[in-house]
Amino acid sequence: MGIVFDEGLIDEIKSQNDIVDVISKYINLKKTGQNYKGLCPFHNEKTPSFIVSDEKQFYHCFGCGESGDVISFMMKLENLDFIDALRLLGEWAGINIDEISTSKKEKEEIYRKNKIYEINREAALYYYRNLVKEKNKGISYLFNRGLCIQTIKKFGLGYASWKGLNDHLLNKGYDQESIFKAGLVLEQKDKNGYYDRFRNRVMFPIINTTGKVIGFGGRVIENKEPKYLNSPETIVFNKGNNLFSLNLAKNEVRKKKQIIVVEGYMDVIGLYEKGIKNVVASLGTALTKNQANLLKRYANEVIIAYDADIAGQAATLRGLDILKEVGCGVRVVRLSEGKDPDEYVRKKGKEAFIKEVENALSLIDYKIMLSKEGNNLKSTEGKVKFVKSITQILKELKSPVEIDAYIKKIARESGIAEEAISTEIYGNTKKNKEKKEIGNTNKYRSKHDRYTNKYNIQPLKPIQRIGYIEAERALLKLIINNNKFFKRVKEKLSFEDFLDQSNSEIAKRIYELYENTDNFDLEVILNQLNIEQIKVLHQIKSSIVPEENLDKALNDYIKTIQKHKLVERKIYIEQELKKLEKEENKSKEQIVRIRELCIDYEKLLKELKEI
Ligand code: CTP
Ligand code: MN
Repeated sequence: MGIVFDEGLIDEIKSQNDIVDVISKYINLKKTGQNYKGLCPFHNEKTPSFIVSDEKQFYHCFGCGESGDVISFMMKLENLDFIDALRLLGEWAGINIDEISTSKKEKEEIYRKNKIYEINREAALYYYRNLVKEKNKGISYLFNRGLCIQTIKKFGLGYASWKGLNDHLLNKGYDQESIFKAGLVLEQKDKNGYYDRFRNRVMFPIINTTGKVIGFGGRVIENKEPKYLNSPETIVFNKGNNLFSLNLAKNEVRKKKQIIVVEGYMDVIGLYEKGIKNVVASLGTALTKNQANLLKRYANEVIIAYDADIAGQAATLRGLDILKEVGCGVRVVRLSEGKDPDEYVRKKGKEAFIKEVENALSLIDYKIMLSKEGNNLKSTEGKVKFVKSITQILKELKSPVEIDAYIKKIARESGIAEEAISTEIYGNTKKNKEKKEIGNTNKYRSKHDRYTNKYNIQPLKPIQRIGYIEAERALLKLIINNNKFFKRVKEKLSFEDFLDQSNSEIAKRIYELYENTDNFDLEVILNQLNIEQIKVLHQIKSSIVPEENLDKALNDYIKTIQKHKLVERKIYIEQELKKLEKEENKSKEQIVRIRELCIDYEKLLKELKEI
C-alpha cells in the first residue's frame, strides 16, 4: 500500500497480541515442552507439525514450511495484506491504526483509495441493477452462455447500457474527478464533459481478496471490437498484481490447496457454474511474478488450463517458468484442440474437466510432449533433436532419481539407448563426470600454486560452495534420527567443521541433543534457533538424499566437507604467505616453513581425492 508505519507501532501491536493467544483463536494448541503444537491451518495434516514458540513469538510448520510472526500469520490465514492484518490486530489490542497512522500524506492516500473503492462498489451495484431490472440484452446473453441467476449474482455481473453511470455517480454525491480517477468515465475533449467508458457491455467486476471492487472487465454483446475492455490502471487497480475471482477461489482452496488458472473471465465463471470453484483468471495478461506469488500464498499446486491455441501455449510456457521461479508446484491441463475451459466444460461436463485436471502434466512432461509434437520421431534426425531438447530440460532437474526416471522414459519413447541419453546429460559416463569435476579443481588450484600470482579469496567458486553446503545439509539430514550415522559422522567431523553458519548452528544443537538425551526430539532445539536457521532446518528435512548406498553417500559427504575445509585453510595460508612476502624485514625461514605447509595441504588434498 506504500504506507510506512513506525516500527514502534508495529512492535506495540505485536506485543499486545501474544502469538499463542492469537493462533489459539483458530486452532487447538497443546503445550509440548517449551513450545506449543497443533494441526497446521495452512495444509492438510493428521499429525500436528505446526509449532508455535511462545518465547520467540513465531510459528513454524514442519510439514509445509510456513513460518513467521503474528502479523504474517494473520495475513496468511485471513488473506489480508500487511496493513489490514495490522489494522485487525490493532483493533484487538484497542489500537486504531488509522488514527495513529503516520503522516498526513499517507492518510490522504488511504482516503483517496477508499473513495475509489466506494465509487467502484456503487458502479458495480448500478450495473447489476441494470442487468436484472428488466429483461435486457445483457441478461439474455448471459443466460444463453449457460449461466444461472445464482452464478450471475455470485460474481456480481452487470450490464452497462449506453450511458447513465456518470450521472448516477454524480447524483450519489461523488465528485467528477474521483469518478474519472476510478477509470469509469472518459473525457469528452471538445465538450468539456465526461462519458461512460463501458457502453453496451456485460460487466465483470474484479474484486480483490479483501472484497473490494478494484476494477471491471466488460464484454461486447454483439461482434464488435474490442471484445473485452478493461478498467485502466488506477491507484487501486494493478492488473499484474491481481487475479480475477481469487476472492471466491481462495475459500475453495483452503483444503485442497490447488488453484486452476485460466485465461478468461468466462472460463472462470463457466467452470464455477458447473461446480468447479477453485479457479482464477490472469486478467488477459501473461502471468506476472506478483500473481505467481499471490497464487503461492494460497495454493501448493497451480494448474494452468489456458486455451489450446498457440497463444495459450506460449502463455503456458511463460506461466510455468514464472511459477517455478517462485517455487510453486505446477502442472498443465491441455484441452483438446480449439477449446477453452468454458467451452470444454459446457460440452463435456464437470467430471470430464476434473479428469483433465487429475491427469494434468508436470512441467517436464508438458515440455516433453511439446517437443514430441514438434519433432518427427519416425526420422533419425527428429529423434536426435527430440532427445537433445529433452536433455536440456533434464539438466535443470536436481534429483538424480527424477532424472533417471525420465531417462528411462525418453529412451522408451525414442528408441535411443539410456546410456547415450545419460551421456548427453552428464557428459560422458558418470565416472567421467567425477573426473571432470576434479579437473576443474585442479585448474583452480594451479592458479594458486604460483605464489606470486594475484590472490584473493574469491576463487572459492560459488558452485563449489553450493556443493559443500549441500553436502553438509545432506549429512545433517542423514544423522537426524539415526544414531548409528551420527556416531560415524562425529568421529570425522565436529559441529564446527560445518562451514555454513546456519548448518553449523544446527549441527551444534543436534550434536548436543545426542549427547544429552536418549530420546531424539528435534523440536527441543527449535527454541535455540533463529527463524533463518529454522528455515534451513526445514530445507534439510525436506531435502532429498539417496535411498541406496547410504554408506557411500555418507563417506562422500564427509569427504566433500573435509576437502573444503582443507581448501579454505590452504587459501588462508597462501594469503598469509603473500602478506609475509611483501613485508620488508621478512624472515626467510618463516616463508620456507609456510611454503612447506602449503605443499602439505596440497598433498592432503590429493590423498583425500584418492581415497
Ligand atoms: N482479454 C482482454 N482484452 C481483449 C481480449 C481478451 O482483456 N481484447 C482478456 C479477457 O480477460 C478475456 C481473456 O483475455 O477474458 C481471454 O480472451 P479470449 O480467449 O479472447 O476470450 P474468452 O475468455 O474466450 O471470451 P469469450 O468466451 O467471452 O469469447
Ligand atoms: Mn471463451
